[in-house]
Amino acid sequence: MFTRFRRKRLSPVLRDLLQETRLSVDDFIYPLFVRGGEGIRNEVASMPGVFQMSVDEIVRECETLKELGIRSVILFGIPETKDSVGSDALCEHGIIATALRQIKKTHPDLFVVTDLCFCEYTDHGHCGILDPVLETVDNDLTLVNLGKQAVIHAKAGADMIAPSGMMDGMITAIRSALDEAGYAHIPIMSYSTKFASSWYGPFRDVAESAPSFGDRRSYQMNPANRREAILESLEDEKEGADILMVKPALAYLDIIRDIREASLLPLAVYNVSGEYSMLKMAAKAGVIDYERVMMETLLSFKRAGADIIISYHAKEAARILLELP
Ligand code: PBG
Ligand code: ZN
Repeated sequence: MFTRFRRKRLSPVLRDLLQETRLSVDDFIYPLFVRGGEGIRNEVASMPGVFQMSVDEIVRECETLKELGIRSVILFGIPETKDSVGSDALCEHGIIATALRQIKKTHPDLFVVTDLCFCEYTDHGHCGILDPVLETVDNDLTLVNLGKQAVIHAKAGADMIAPSGMMDGMITAIRSALDEAGYAHIPIMSYSTKFASSWYGPFRDVAESAPSFGDRRSYQMNPANRREAILESLEDEKEGADILMVKPALAYLDIIRDIREASLLPLAVYNVSGEYSMLKMAAKAGVIDYERVMMETLLSFKRAGADIIISYHAKEAARILLELP
């Protein structure tokens, strides 16, 4: 006998009527990796389909994204030179500021978010200035530089700033730096609950940002901690974050739900590099139906409570959602 559940699953129309969560191209922010030079489009071996691109190629890529209905990107920079403080990120002619001006000139309608951190710009690969005695990132010196970096991004045309360094007090520091410089209208999407995760491995190949010694466990969170994960996001809300984030996504669906219930702010998730590569490699090995597994995975983030999904899958997902070839 078809009873309670199965009679509502027989018709595809009724199944659609009863679907509780949906993906849309409006949910996505697509990550882009920009480097110097011209005509460069280097695919990264560990992330098939993801490229380091020079500014001219990024500008062309943005056209493709808009055709797919993707209207927002998050920018990561690979500078020509790195040093102990990450000077490229503090300079108006650094890679991100340069890319921002070009992108916004050609695509003023694209919503450009910038990742705000120092690990791609420092020669030691840590997310800020080092304290020589403690051999870890100096929190308060880094806050000053995060404020400067944020203002450089805003001035170059960033539409939203996304600090990812997990420094204490970073939202307060960045908010006041932006406000004082006349950028009170620029929102902050905080990587508010970011774990010290091994799922970032492939990203560090693309962004060339692996730490040269040690790891990030003195600033990113312990994956074992749930209460602290909620506190981290609530603290950033108090400090004035406009949007919260959980990162990574797939192994942290419980945390996404927890923060969804603890705060009324919009919530983003970062479907990180290792999550992307895992599906790509499984598909290559012929183990999974890639498109279906991808869509099911992305949908799970919405079901867990995410409003925004930052994902390397965004282009492929958009093609499916828009029924393009
Ligand atoms: C920079 C940053 C990282 C990611 C986003 N911003 C790397 C890290 O913290 O080591 C990871 C993104 C990914 O794995 O896709 N702090
Ligand atoms: Zn960093």
